[in-house]
Amino acid sequence: MCGIVGYIGERNSIPILIEGLKRLEYRGYDSAGVGVIIDNTCKVIKSKGKVSVLEDKIKKNYISSPFGIAHTRWATHGEPNEINAHPHFNGDNTLFLIHNGIIENFTVLKKELQSKGYEFRSETDSEVLVHLIDRFLKKGNNLLEAVRYALNEVQGTYGIAVGYLNEPDKIVVAKKGSPLVIGIGDNENFIASDVNALIAHTSQVVYLEDGEVAAVYKDRFEAKTIDDELIQKEIEEVTIELNEISRGDYKHFMLKEIMEQPQSVKNSFRGRLLYEEGTSKLGGLVGYEQRIAESDRIIICACGTSWHAGLVGEYMLEQFTGIPVEVEYASEFRYRNPIVTKKDTILFISQSGETADTLAAMKEAKRRGALVLGICNAVGSSIARESKAGVYIHAGPEIGVASTKAFTSQLVVLALITILIARRRNLSLIDGQSIIRELDLIPEKISQILELNDHIEAIAEKFVNAKNFLYLGRGYNFPVALEGALKLKEISYIHAEGYPAAEMKHGPIALIDENMPTVFIAPKDSVYDKVLSNIEEVNARNGKIIAITTESDSHLDEMAEFTIQIPNTIRMLMPILTAVPLQLLAYHIAVKKGLNVDQPRNLAKSVTVE
Ligand code: AGP
Ligand code: GLU
Repeated sequence: MCGIVGYIGERNSIPILIEGLKRLEYRGYDSAGVGVIIDNTCKVIKSKGKVSVLEDKIKKNYISSPFGIAHTRWATHGEPNEINAHPHFNGDNTLFLIHNGIIENFTVLKKELQSKGYEFRSETDSEVLVHLIDRFLKKGNNLLEAVRYALNEVQGTYGIAVGYLNEPDKIVVAKKGSPLVIGIGDNENFIASDVNALIAHTSQVVYLEDGEVAAVYKDRFEAKTIDDELIQKEIEEVTIELNEISRGDYKHFMLKEIMEQPQSVKNSFRGRLLYEEGTSKLGGLVGYEQRIAESDRIIICACGTSWHAGLVGEYMLEQFTGIPVEVEYASEFRYRNPIVTKKDTILFISQSGETADTLAAMKEAKRRGALVLGICNAVGSSIARESKAGVYIHAGPEIGVASTKAFTSQLVVLALITILIARRRNLSLIDGQSIIRELDLIPEKISQILELNDHIEAIAEKFVNAKNFLYLGRGYNFPVALEGALKLKEISYIHAEGYPAAEMKHGPIALIDENMPTVFIAPKDSVYDKVLSNIEEVNARNGKIIAITTESDSHLDEMAEFTIQIPNTIRMLMPILTAVPLQLLAYHIAVKKGLNVDQPRNLAKSVTVE
């Protein structure tokens, strides 16, 4: 679920491991640990809490070793304490292992191992792996074989790295459902669960696929399937720059990423707009355009913020292509018996490209023969590689746990797909051109919204003590209401609900009183008048209103306690604008509450467990 980093070479691994863990901190974790081979013994140092706590502990131990693996844990089995932190040892402390993911059949395996005399020190599921590998080592296998045999008995998801005293020339890694990448250096190699942990050292990487294991030596690596077939892996070049994953002068990654949106949104459509033809060009969908345009149905499948983007996509695609669209939570889709036909197209949206539910839903959809497309941010991620075709959103690395710039870029890409398909159906040239023109203006309009930062911060000040929030919007802005509420609850821990504005009177209205702030997303569009009636209803009950509206709408000034006036655009693109003030509102409320917005409690950036 969280982070893995490893080093084998000639330098001291410790600073490399600590720096790597810090680069993975954004993913959220509760404890951390390192394992090294030093003076012919294996040494493990672990601590609860921050990587800096581990760092202090290591400094006191003065260790230096050219071989090390390190881990940040996001507990799934057993409380987050030092004993449960990784690495885990075998009985005689000669073998140590770190694991991301979940071993689903660990209870059975644990019982079996215990019956054979294995003693467990932690409550984790991961510890079964180290004893299982130990068992195969004791049968005379080498480390790579022992890992393969052990993994053949395991159900669940894993990214693992293993060190063994008797084979100190290699780190053995394996992957299924959790990311694992090898970084190639000069007489040194690296391993990590996320390329961000490697790019300070190398841009040459090898992505392991599910069911693959590798022995990584300092000057080479050998990869096999877990069924013992040798595989030739391709070395790929990553183009992420170090400054893209640094905070710069910003107080938080989240703020940096909100502020980056004029550029990240532009990057999402750069080189993809065909002004004259009034359509878009998406390299990743070449050859599939007609097939998508002829779909009986489009299903959009995702989780969290990406699911909200999918809801906006539903409005876009249905309005302009006339193809029926359904939006599904990936977690539900994978366990229902979804009706999927070969005439369906399924879009999987994921910022990280590693979300376990989305990945599993994608595999299920593939099995059922639908055309499966990915919309991802993280280049080379599992979902991107697993999909038949797809589109990168190119928002750049998103580090803040609360997704911001990825959301607006997902909306841009959904708009591009909409135009592409709609132009093959019945969208006219003129209409296509006018959408493209509007899209081109969006970055500048986001810049104008960002200038309202101080105004929004002043509004946030008034609501620091709120206990509940309601977010209401209609049409295209209903999903934005959901997203605004999610942003607030994720980072400020204030309970917030999003509803279609008209649903308010069917229940939530009972909650409204002078202590209940309501955020209305009320741009001047075709449902504006209807939203005004909803605003009146809240006013009549003394509710406090913050209204996001479009410029020169002074009417709302009288009705709402606070207004945030933003530039206007066409309806389908409005969510790209209305989302921005809501991100800032959530950000400032959380900061004023003194909370760690980049690593909110209990959350992880990439949810690679169910
Ligand atoms: C967003 O702020 C959340 N942290 C979360 O809901 C996220 O959108 C969800 O887990 C899906 O992630 P993905 O886009 O990487 O698949
Ligand atoms: N399931 C393991 C544990 O609870 C690994 C969690 C993780 O991915 O960090 O220790």
